[in-house]
Amino acid sequence: MEKKNCLILALDVTDRENALRIANEVSEYVDSIKVGYPLVLGEGLGIVKELAELAPVIADFKVADIPNTDRLICEQVFKAGADAVITHGFTGRDSLDSCVKVAEEYGRDVYVVTEMSHPGGVEFFRPVAETIAQMAADAGATGVVAPATRPERVRDIRKIIGNDLHIISPGVGAQGGSAADVINAGADWVIVGRSIYNSDSPADAAMKICNDMKC
Ligand code: XMP
Repeated sequence: MEKKNCLILALDVTDRENALRIANEVSEYVDSIKVGYPLVLGEGLGIVKELAELAPVIADFKVADIPNTDRLICEQVFKAGADAVITHGFTGRDSLDSCVKVAEEYGRDVYVVTEMSHPGGVEFFRPVAETIAQMAADAGATGVVAPATRPERVRDIRKIIGNDLHIISPGVGAQGGSAADVINAGADWVIVGRSIYNSDSPADAAMKICNDMKC
């Protein structure tokens, strides 16, 4: 993904009409559109191809299965037109290797969840976040997902992965994180959903976040 605005839209609306309207309104401010279960379960995987005409799509399916099933999921995601997939890492190196291998075959990207951004994200992830980050680096993933709600954790994770991997960071706005703070802590992109798609003017909301970050 090319870095222009350091902003990824999390498009968690559930209907095609709203999704395309919002994506069109903000496309000049975002480097990618993240699509997850809410929209794909609402409208089907075909929505990925439509959105990919506006911006590269990250498929946030938090893939977490045995290697063979992970392979099948990633193949479907990339065939549908997604530029990248988000996977979990707690399933182990063999599962992650399977996702990375498919991504390499398709020339696409893999981002691995380290510690999640919500309060419960510390319960199980905190003790293993660094190990997962190191595994993501060793496995040749494109990058990791780290919490904008805890910029200090982004800093910790950056120290582990170095500068070769990217950090994409959700938790800005509705979850309380600051875009500028987490970019200063070492994130490459912030991921923002509700603060943009629930705004009366998604374009103005996206522009304001870009201006705050001065990325
Ligand atoms: P909001 O509305 O809170 O949306 O701006 C955030 C988006 O990011 C997803 N999310 C995460 N994804 N690791 C992830 O891989 C995380 O720690 C994490 N926290 C939030 C969330 O599903 C929504 O799409």
